[in-house]
Amino acid sequence: MVLNGGYPPGTFKNSRPYGMPPFAQSLSDVEVAAVVTYIRTAWGNCGAPVTVKEVNELRSALLY
Ligand code: HEM
Repeated sequence: MVLNGGYPPGTFKNSRPYGMPPFAQSLSDVEVAAVVTYIRTAWGNCGAPVTVKEVNELRSALLY
């Protein structure tokens, strides 16, 4: 989501859903790893940290 952004599907009752802009061009691997790790561990969330290597690998992931 942070690298590529995205849109939920439009529906009859919500034909123009809010989208998220991509941040691949404006944030470094270190910055994306930091912000995603923060989201995953703040506010009582207990997700595992995301590494700089994982972010770098996801830059070339196929988007279906
Ligand atoms: C660096 C800044 C940002 C971060 C770290 C971030 C993070 C995220 C994450 C992790 C999700 C997925 C949430 C989930 O799994 O349910 C998400 C979704 C979303 N974000 Fe962001 N976001 C950022 C900036 C923005 C901005 C600037 C906007 C709007 C102008 C935005 C709009 C949205 C929307 C509309 C979704 C839902 C998209 C969908 O359901 O397909 N985000 N964001």
